[in-house]
Amino acid sequence: MKDQLEQLKRDFDALVDKIADTDALEELKVQFLGRKGKLNAMMKEMASLADGERKRVGAIANEVKQAIEAAFGEAEGKLLNASMETNSAKEWIDVTQPAIPTREQGHVHPVTQVQDELAELFNSMGFMVLDGPELESDYYNFTALNIPPSHPARDMQDTFYIDGKTPKPGSEEAAWVMRTHTSSFQVRAMRKYGVPLRAVVPGRCFRNEATDARHEHTFHQLEGIVVGKGISFAHMKGVFQAVADHLYGKGTKIRLSPKFYPFVEPGVRGELECFLCKGKGCRVCKQSGWLEAMPGGMIHPNVLRQAGLDPHEYSGFAFGFGLTRLVMLKYGIDDIRHLESGDLRFFKLF
Ligand code: DAH
Repeated sequence: MKDQLEQLKRDFDALVDKIADTDALEELKVQFLGRKGKLNAMMKEMASLADGERKRVGAIANEVKQAIEAAFGEAEGKLLNASMETNSAKEWIDVTQPAIPTREQGHVHPVTQVQDELAELFNSMGFMVLDGPELESDYYNFTALNIPPSHPARDMQDTFYIDGKTPKPGSEEAAWVMRTHTSSFQVRAMRKYGVPLRAVVPGRCFRNEATDARHEHTFHQLEGIVVGKGISFAHMKGVFQAVADHLYGKGTKIRLSPKFYPFVEPGVRGELECFLCKGKGCRVCKQSGWLEAMPGGMIHPNVLRQAGLDPHEYSGFAFGFGLTRLVMLKYGIDDIRHLESGDLRFFKLF
């Protein structure tokens, strides 16, 4: 009997080692420890033994039972660990992999930042902030601004002409162009809103340029226009001073000198005292002490006429700031091409 019990334990040990899943283990358990299992069968046989002998064999039977139960527990634990390992192998995480980029949050383009800042300033002075079309008629871009088809000033602002209606020189139906300046909105604004008028028009402009560090086919301007009764040169000067104070600090000097633009008379080259050297002369202002950034003038009578206004009754001034230029000056950007590049390495600097 004792030998039989020990054989049972050995049989069990041999079988349990080969078990590979929990179902097979459960089956083995029933075979050995179940009610109709092998151990129970032996226990029943023990009933026929003599008293002393039954006690001895009983003790061995108990030992074998406990050993088998312990071995079951161990086998169960092993199977569980193994299954957890295979699961985690399936869900393996490579901690050395670069992180999945989360959605990047952008920010406002430096040109838009300065544009917004100026729009706010002009708004505080009672100007409307208007938005004009980038694809503009030849008429509003040139002819209405006293630049008829044969005018040499057209050469300085060569642009991209868009196929469309056949141009009838000078007519409002003429060819479409990508606007070369925001001045194209002057006559549109006067016609649409009438007088008195106070408005700025920031926006993109285009020119057919051989691009280099200082020339780009796409750039930004901010146009201003004031029309009414009794509007004078002094009003324009006051506005320029307010802009200079706002951009570079109170008391920043401005300087106006004559310059020709077909749509103003007189026209001015508006300059700001260099913000960097305060007029002493440096790299930014090319040793002149001044920065040319605010062209403008009194609106030409022909332009007022195009808007249906009588130049004897109304007068006004206009100006066209180079927004792109102001941004380059403000941030010390030495190559204009960065601004339209879409290169995030550049934009992240602002
Ligand atoms: N439109 C001109 C340009 O792009 C700038 C300009 C000059 C605008 C004088 C004006 C002005 O309104 O009065 O070069």
